[in-house]
Amino acid sequence: MTESTAGSPVQADTGRADTGQADTGRDGDTVPLGSDYFQDPLAYFRRMRDEGPVTPVTLPHGDRAWLVTRYAEVRAALADPRLHKDWAGKLTSPDWVPDQVTGYLAVHMLNSDPPNHTRLRKLVTKAFTARRVAGLRPRVAAITGSLLDAIEARATAAGGDGTVDLIEEFAFPLPITVICELLGVPTADRDQFRRWSNAIVASEGEPGGFRAAGTAMYYYFTELIAAKRARPADDLVSALIEARDSGDSLDERELIAMLWLLLVAGHETTTNLIASGTLALLQNPAEFARLRSDPSLLPGAVEELLRYVNPLNHATDRFTLEPVEIGGVTIPAREWVLCVTSSANRDPGRFGDPDRLDVGRDAGGHVAFGHGIHYCLGAPLARLEGEVAFGALLERFPGLTLAVDPATLRWRPSSLIHGLETLTVRLR
Ligand code: HEM
Repeated sequence: MTESTAGSPVQADTGRADTGQADTGRDGDTVPLGSDYFQDPLAYFRRMRDEGPVTPVTLPHGDRAWLVTRYAEVRAALADPRLHKDWAGKLTSPDWVPDQVTGYLAVHMLNSDPPNHTRLRKLVTKAFTARRVAGLRPRVAAITGSLLDAIEARATAAGGDGTVDLIEEFAFPLPITVICELLGVPTADRDQFRRWSNAIVASEGEPGGFRAAGTAMYYYFTELIAAKRARPADDLVSALIEARDSGDSLDERELIAMLWLLLVAGHETTTNLIASGTLALLQNPAEFARLRSDPSLLPGAVEELLRYVNPLNHATDRFTLEPVEIGGVTIPAREWVLCVTSSANRDPGRFGDPDRLDVGRDAGGHVAFGHGIHYCLGAPLARLEGEVAFGALLERFPGLTLAVDPATLRWRPSSLIHGLETLTVRLR
């Protein structure tokens, strides 16, 4: 889900030298994305979108990419087969030697093109059925209820000041617990996953952090798969080991890559939907009150919150192999392209009054889950978690308020993930 989950060379730490990016002579013309980009990416995207549909930029970690920012072009680009994802197969030189991280993580579905993507997605879709997701509602509600009980107890305990970090206590534990249970990964290891995942999606941070986290996850999943082979259980890891499609199956490398993808994709984004969505409601009290008084608005409100908060700034990276024209701009061969879904979702050409949160609006057609063959596999699960989380939070804490000055809120230093570092709230 990130430049790094995708494990592509657009990530700071994975060695762009491999890609042989074209020299367009435009280095001087690119828009630099400074570190203030992380704090207010939409301000950058608004300017770019006003000027044209495609803008070459220098990303905060120094690489060049072409940003597609208008709705129509973003949607078309996400479904454009001239924009490829399989960098390991199509961009690396013949003497490229994959290591434990790049070699394994290069083979997940989000880094694949048809026909391999079709094959990988079909195998996992079989194990990840809609019925399995719908059947999770009572469990998601139970996890939500017990997390909110714990929050209330902690905030009101002697010595407590009535405030909690909603990310630490709710927005992070809910999705990670759900995805761990679904996969059959011990929930007790969730803080370790969080550290790995943070290192993986960070655009800044310790050099080597991405590789170290990737290696640790590789060893973790190798052991987990061996244990599940020995003792299969009623969980997704066991189902994936068993998944068969006309005699096809996931090999060991693909299995590890798949689990890595599902675990990171399955919580990073949903955590930010819940946290940023709560912030948006707190900053729009009339919408908070409207949603609380009419829970039938919840499914539509989740769509509107996805459109409005955009847990991802942009879809994962794609690349050209030949010159590709988008919206009248020719992107040269061997260039990285980012479809800026958050900008598309605020395009006034598609959504009226796009910067206004309106929980009653028809936000259908938003591209927060992407579009085309890589459309989010976990969308039904994310929607379910969003509905349950916002419904329970608003019902339980009608007096919820932000406990800090909004100007002090900090967003994580990731180009891809748009998520708060912390969100301190007062329960009543
Ligand atoms: C609010 C929550 C979520 C958001 C905003 C989100 C967003 C996205 C987006 C934009 C893509 C397409 C990326 C691209 O085309 O480059 C995607 C793909 C994907 N997502 Fe999600 N996602 C969310 C939750 C989840 C969950 C809960 C899971 C897993 C259980 C998941 C698993 C995946 C997978 C496996 C893919 C790759 C699909 C493919 O390549 O065919 N996502 N997601």
